[in-house]
Amino acid sequence: MCGIVGAIADRDVVPVLIEGLKRLEYRGYDSAGIAIVAEEAVRRVRRTGRVAEMEAAAGAEDFHASLGIGHTRWATHGGVTEGNAHPHISHGELALVHNGIIENHEQQRERLLALGYTFESQTDTEVIAHLIHHYQSQGHDLLVALQHAVKELDGAYAIAVISKRDPQRMVCARMGCPLLVGLGEGENFVASDVSAIVSATRRVIFLEEGDTAELTREQVRVFDASGAEIPRDVHVSDVSLASLELGPYRHFMQKEIHEQPRAIADTIEAIIDRNSFVSAMFGENAEDIFRDIEAVQILACGTSYYAGLTARYWIEAIAGLPCAVDIASEYRYRQVVANPKQLIVTISQSGETLDTMEALKYAKSLGQQRTLSICNVPESAIPRASELVFYTRAGAEIGVASTKAFTTQLVALFVLTCTLAKLHGRLDAEQEAEMLEALRHLPGSVQHALNLEPQIVAWSERFAPKQHALFLGRGVHYPIALEGALKLKEISYIHAEAYPAGELKHGPLALVDAAMPVVVIAPNDKLLEKVKSNIQEVRARGGEMFVFTDQDSHFSESEGVHVIRTPRHVGVLSPIVHAIPVQLLAYHAALARGTDVDKPRNLAKSVTVE
Ligand code: G6P
Repeated sequence: MCGIVGAIADRDVVPVLIEGLKRLEYRGYDSAGIAIVAEEAVRRVRRTGRVAEMEAAAGAEDFHASLGIGHTRWATHGGVTEGNAHPHISHGELALVHNGIIENHEQQRERLLALGYTFESQTDTEVIAHLIHHYQSQGHDLLVALQHAVKELDGAYAIAVISKRDPQRMVCARMGCPLLVGLGEGENFVASDVSAIVSATRRVIFLEEGDTAELTREQVRVFDASGAEIPRDVHVSDVSLASLELGPYRHFMQKEIHEQPRAIADTIEAIIDRNSFVSAMFGENAEDIFRDIEAVQILACGTSYYAGLTARYWIEAIAGLPCAVDIASEYRYRQVVANPKQLIVTISQSGETLDTMEALKYAKSLGQQRTLSICNVPESAIPRASELVFYTRAGAEIGVASTKAFTTQLVALFVLTCTLAKLHGRLDAEQEAEMLEALRHLPGSVQHALNLEPQIVAWSERFAPKQHALFLGRGVHYPIALEGALKLKEISYIHAEAYPAGELKHGPLALVDAAMPVVVIAPNDKLLEKVKSNIQEVRARGGEMFVFTDQDSHFSESEGVHVIRTPRHVGVLSPIVHAIPVQLLAYHAALARGTDVDKPRNLAKSVTVE
């Protein structure tokens, strides 16, 4: 969703702001803007559409300055218009960018109107600019004015502010939305995501909830929620520039699909090196916590939720622990029956999805203190709020449609399952060796599945003209059918639904005709014969079947039944291998339809609003 970048330097920061905004594009946005303080004036350029259009406008208006802020906006309050795009300006003097939502903006607006302020936009953000300006006008300096203003805000925010009254500094604040400060040599930066500033510096301070900060060229000072100056740790980011570049690929999604063997190998590296499932990989106290728990509750959104649904089959079958999986936005508003002996597992690629964070806070407020975060972004909010952490090592995921994050989440959840099983006496040494062996072969099996791409391209051409598609799976492959349908609808805009194949006759069969392609995930597991019967039910109604199965399933092609074979059955890890062909099918169907694969309409990479 929205992105922030800001810089104060001895050089022209406009190129830094533009590059930063381009690196934030992947998060999803619909307008962009920058504001600078130059020659004692605040200047601004905003455009709906792509950063490149705003860049061209800034070039035409000869924008250069050593102090500036930039923003990509994903509309929430107020439509996608130039007037609603950030930065917002108060009295021609102060410019502000904001991520998050101000819940009491209507009350603040009334108050500010009474104070004589006028509003140009429909956003919740504009009240913050006027509020800070109001305190500045009472004689406070920019930092103190910001600190006063944020005390009056309810909701979530990451804010960066510049003012022509104070052209030697930039101030910022964070509550509920990520914000970091980048430390350079004689120059400093703010950003909502380290990727925005990584080509300028890797040394960063992650601001804590309630922090405010003041940046000059030479110095950064951070203050906690009470206003006291506080030292915060400096981290060195290991985000690789290569993971942020497209390289020889046409789309980030394509690149990330093909990176999966490497991403999985990196994620399991420590386990393979130790040749053992060691609880310490989840954190210092993990062994005591894992031994003591009696159940698992998984909370997540989107693709991460489907990873959780897959893991339920493993955790119950292998570790013998009851496992519930909830969509975070549902869990957080449900009257949950708490179980302090339950391990709360959040799954989030970004580590900043608001609903997942709030579900975690709610779970903890009910006395469920044993929390584990499975996350791909170090130091993000959700792992920081969790007692235990397992970082997937997928590298930066830029495509909005999650691919390598999903398969590495599945790997992490499988490692969790085996670790729990071992501690609960359900995995003896021989079984542990088998599971480790399966993991060791996984990157190779995933590579074999990727090699099916040419066959899948041929299928995708038949999919591209369709309006609807149905995905079927059973057991542990049902969540993969769900993920396949989600991928297809997200990026190709073909309406797709997934069902457990046994449920077909209870409704969706009514939709089946020759115009409805039916994708089936049908590897050689104990439910294969049942799935074959379900396929007959579809064929009998004239439906066209596209079956992903493995080498040893003895599935044959026949009229209206197309078959692609993944490698030999990889046993318990089969859902991970079968995620690959459904990703490729969605990608190539979207290519054939000519959609914007990496930035599908209306969607965002990190959903930091409700
Ligand atoms: C958005 C993204 C999805 C992602 C979901 C959850 O909808 O577009 O790809 O699965 O958020 O995100 P998270 O970062 O919490 O895994």
